[in-house]
Amino acid sequence: MSGSVGVALLGAGNIGSGVIAALVRSAGRYAARVGRPLEVRHVLVRDMLRPRPGVASGLITGDLGVILEDAETRIVIELMGGEEPARAYIERCLRAGRHVVTANKEVMAKAGGELLQIAHEHGVRLLYEASVGGGIPIIAPLSRDLLANEVTAVTAIINGTTNYMLTAMAQQGADYEDVLAEAQALGYAEPDPTADVEGIDASFKLAVLCGLAFNVAVAPEQIARQGISGIAAVDIAYAEQLGYVIKLLARARLVDGEVEATVQPTLVPVEEPLAKVDGVLNAVQIEGDLVGRVVFEGPGAGPGPTASSVLADVLDAAQDVVAGRAPLAFVPRRTVRVRPPEEHRSRYYLRITVQDRPGVLARIAQALGDAQISIASFIQYEVEGAEGTAELVFTTHHADGGALRGAIGVIEAMDVVQEIGNVLPMAGEEAAR
Ligand SMILES: NC(=O)c1ccc[n+]([C@@H]2O[C@H](COP(=O)([O-])OP(=O)(O)OC[C@H]3O[C@@H](n4cnc5c(N)ncnc54)[C@H](OP(=O)(O)O)[C@@H]3O)[C@@H](O)[C@H]2O)c1
Repeated sequence: MSGSVGVALLGAGNIGSGVIAALVRSAGRYAARVGRPLEVRHVLVRDMLRPRPGVASGLITGDLGVILEDAETRIVIELMGGEEPARAYIERCLRAGRHVVTANKEVMAKAGGELLQIAHEHGVRLLYEASVGGGIPIIAPLSRDLLANEVTAVTAIINGTTNYMLTAMAQQGADYEDVLAEAQALGYAEPDPTADVEGIDASFKLAVLCGLAFNVAVAPEQIARQGISGIAAVDIAYAEQLGYVIKLLARARLVDGEVEATVQPTLVPVEEPLAKVDGVLNAVQIEGDLVGRVVFEGPGAGPGPTASSVLADVLDAAQDVVAGRAPLAFVPRRTVRVRPPEEHRSRYYLRITVQDRPGVLARIAQALGDAQISIASFIQYEVEGAEGTAELVFTTHHADGGALRGAIGVIEAMDVVQEIGNVLPMAGEEAAR
């Protein structure tokens, strides 16, 4: 074995080039920390002809086989993104006895359990700190520092694009389309923003967190998901009057041995720590039986913060290589029932546009009462420029999602109801079932 620890990168884009730059810049410090220098031996890319400042051309390859044939490469850093071929490449590296570090939330959400099992069978590590929350340490604290706890709930803001947009809507009183255009101009939103604004990205990250926090396998498609494109400026204004802010919350709870997992715009009480997480910041709140509540907050994306997490994993794996340490024990993930949204209990915010006529309120209250849903508060607003139309805003006490859905169906069918403007869950003290 040579005197260095060989490293290969799969991908040298936004994050990969940041990782390479840090490996060069901090080489001395990392060598002191590991006990041997880290040596970048290969960089796999798609376009081999593109100039790559800071990367010696001899390192560039388009063939994973070159990396797998090099016995000196002990750690592979996957920074390609997307499901395939990234998943297959990670599997091949693990089967070939290489430690793998990845920032890939999609692969870890869809195939994490299986890949961790393969890593265990081959005596290597699969590390993925950067896959959730960018620069925020959350995977390692869940895997180590909080291990003595039974974790009962994870509540997180894990998509910077949508948090930036909701914050801008609240601060400017602006509508969704305007802040989306602004976020795209600033580079905070992709030209196709679907994965962010529809909560897909957050559902991948929540699936990863469920795997760790509860040691259960939750597939992204089992997570009830609603994006932010239906949030209007009035919802944010009404929420503020009620003492709440609207956040795209990723929430998972373990209730009676079953999992509830949702990504939804949610009203969060202003005094909660997560209500104060603004702009592109991310935050993850964990509740455990011993620790109570802990909140991790920080930058959720960008080359610097993401490289910080990637390189922490690389240094960790490199220390194992040098010490000849075997990976820790592995506990396969449990499969438990994931509850459908009809069974989730929550408080709700309802905005309903109606004809401003006597008796309308009583009919809506009756429909909610018939479904065993009790109203916690109610405000009526006039709709500017629409004579004879009113907007009714209700908050409810805890109710079953299924009961609420039934009541909304009844209300929507009423001749005096023009539109169900929005139905959103409210965070706060959770229901005891
Ligand atoms: N951007 C962030 O702030 C952030 C934060 C946290 C986690 N992440 C995760 O980090 C990973 C990388 O993100 P990024 O923003 O750096 O992506 P990116 O800028 O699009 O870079 C992707 C790199 O992978 C290479 N690549 C893609 N498909 C390939 C293939 N089939 N074969 C060989 N090479 C391939 C590309 O090669 P070419 O250069 O030749 O195109 C490029 O170098 C993703 O999993 C992402 O989710 C990103």
